[in-house]
Amino acid sequence: MFYRIAYLILFVAVWGRTAAQSITWSPVAPGVWKGIVGKPEAYDLLKAAGSSPASGLQKMSAQPFPFSKEEISGTVTDGKTSLRFPLDKGEQLFGFGLNFQTVHQRGKILQLHVDHYGGKDNGRTHAPVPFYVSSKGYGVLVNAARYINVYAGTGVRKDSKNPPEEKDRNTNRSWSSRPYSDAVEMLVPAEGVEVYVFAGPTALDAVRRYNLFNGGGALPPRWGLGFTQRVRSLFTAEEVKKEADSFAVKGYPLDFIGLEPGWQSRSYPGTFEWDKTRYPDPAAFVKEMLDKRIRLNLWINPYVSKSASFYKEITPYTGSHTVWVGEVPDFTIPRARDIFFGQLKKDQVDIGVSGYKIDEVDGYDYYLWPDVATFPSGLSGEQMRQTYGVLAMKNSIELFKNRNQRTYGLVRASNAGANSYPYVLYNDYYNHEDFITALINSGYIGVLWTPEVRASKTAEEWLRRFQTVIFSPMAMINAWSSGTKPWSYPQVAAQVKELALLRMQMMPYWYSEFAKYHFEGTPVFRGMSLEPGYQVNTTNTSVKKNLEDNPYLEAVSKEVKDQYMAGECLLVAPLFTGQTSRKVVLPKGRWYDFYTGAFAGDGEVITVTRGLDKIPVYVKDGGVIPMMPPLLHAPKAGEKVDLEIRVYGEKPGSYRLYDDDGETFNYEKGIYDWRTIRVEKDAKGKLKGTVEPPHKKEVRSYGKITFKFMTR
Ligand code: GAL
Repeated sequence: MFYRIAYLILFVAVWGRTAAQSITWSPVAPGVWKGIVGKPEAYDLLKAAGSSPASGLQKMSAQPFPFSKEEISGTVTDGKTSLRFPLDKGEQLFGFGLNFQTVHQRGKILQLHVDHYGGKDNGRTHAPVPFYVSSKGYGVLVNAARYINVYAGTGVRKDSKNPPEEKDRNTNRSWSSRPYSDAVEMLVPAEGVEVYVFAGPTALDAVRRYNLFNGGGALPPRWGLGFTQRVRSLFTAEEVKKEADSFAVKGYPLDFIGLEPGWQSRSYPGTFEWDKTRYPDPAAFVKEMLDKRIRLNLWINPYVSKSASFYKEITPYTGSHTVWVGEVPDFTIPRARDIFFGQLKKDQVDIGVSGYKIDEVDGYDYYLWPDVATFPSGLSGEQMRQTYGVLAMKNSIELFKNRNQRTYGLVRASNAGANSYPYVLYNDYYNHEDFITALINSGYIGVLWTPEVRASKTAEEWLRRFQTVIFSPMAMINAWSSGTKPWSYPQVAAQVKELALLRMQMMPYWYSEFAKYHFEGTPVFRGMSLEPGYQVNTTNTSVKKNLEDNPYLEAVSKEVKDQYMAGECLLVAPLFTGQTSRKVVLPKGRWYDFYTGAFAGDGEVITVTRGLDKIPVYVKDGGVIPMMPPLLHAPKAGEKVDLEIRVYGEKPGSYRLYDDDGETFNYEKGIYDWRTIRVEKDAKGKLKGTVEPPHKKEVRSYGKITFKFMTR
């Protein structure tokens, strides 16, 4: 009897701990549901980021829950939460952090862990965002500041709804070591977790909802979309001024300069105060640069040197371990924030510095605090690791927000919830092809990425890299070590200059596209799978052949990781060093050459052999690209520029042109304008363009407007 009761108690206890718990789903916004499993932790990714939904989310359509709820399960066992989401045959998954070598994630096993990218897509990366989006048109976010194990369609349960067939390896040649799996499973090392589901109907809609749920995408200042040069470490004020002048004399655009280690009196760890031998009068220096229309961005890593003026004050609020013997402020403690960011404010932001590059907040393990580290707030080393970049960004943004001044900076670690932060990720990995794959992946997970240019072995490589950074969120040379300039490779200096000026000409386009990212959640740089017309109609009408006979179907069924969409109308297909031709997969619809307006193809795979001078770029039929003159600096608030509106293709089209002062947060008070550009056919069938007049007298950045019809 005793044993029977004991067994019963044991059974109930074990069963109680392991039984799949039903997840309670509640709608939180149109097409967004929150599910709770077990007892979620008080600290999570979205709390760290402090994100809140943007109003644009309310404008999105209501949608049904994209799963049958019974097919999702959450179980707490052994202090950990497992999650299971169903997968259909043929479904493809994207996201799961900033991957560099792969776009398709189905079949992957990852551990999402903030780290310096180490050359393998294993989950350790600068932004291991626990968000994925499915080709079926929904997204899932696991809101935990933990190292999450992901089995993205690998595990096979006995009770699987679509179990794989058992095969005899002895005789069956179709036997596979990886049988079919019909679920995404995740293990979160916490006794509960919050999960969010984002409806489509398309995958792009799910991404939009995810971005809008977290405040919408980043809206940089106009100057942030100009050109930026990061000068060599240990540069002096005089050298920086000389560098800026050489850009002006040679006619290369420049909006901001980045100062690398050496502007501070000490670094690695830092003092966060100017080095007076190199910068004797920082305020006068910053002012002189601003008078030249060059803003300054300062490199930091947040680890505090004993020589910092605020060292004693901040020590009680730092973690148990040091990084390069510098103390690690616990940014979740208000006092630590006030001391650290108070120093940045007083010493730099108040004299006109425009932004920061927050380095080394990612890893790697030999530099950063170990997981055994403790922090005075009680957060664990793991929780801090997953969110340190986010906390550093968030607090630095406040410094600028308080001055009603936008910033645009760089960071080496981010995570879910930071979607609206005006920070661009970068790293030291410097593989050109993989940098483009990262750019593609950034669009699935609500972060920005720059394929920065440093130095190159050859002029060809320099130009190829430069071509892609121009079509990215931040057009930057990071010469901290090499000291290279845009003109450092004389054989291609003219082409590089033309590209830098093209970046400036395209500013009205980039700016409008970032506004769409901010207000509507549409990522500016994104993978082909999010593009309508990509992968449709591959099986019917025009295409009746099988995979082998059909290059389009063959191309789209493979992972395409070297071409991407840039804004509403452009498809960018980079060429890499050594390549003289490449294949480009053009989605359904007619596409035109960006430079000539000539027809390029329609829903087909083309082979391009563009010379060295040009990066292949294509525009959709009816595509509209608003351009401004090739100025050397972004227009200031209130400064008017003329527009040349380029129109591509034969079809009528329209485009929404965004405008605001480009520098402040007044857009948050509704001081912005969307003007519709319309391209219509007249009685004779000829295309004619019109632009709506500005709707607000405070926002009028565009002067004379002309149209250029590129396709004849
Ligand atoms: C690296 C960073 C580089 C540069 C360098 C300066 O960590 O990735 O971009 O800033 O530090 O020492």
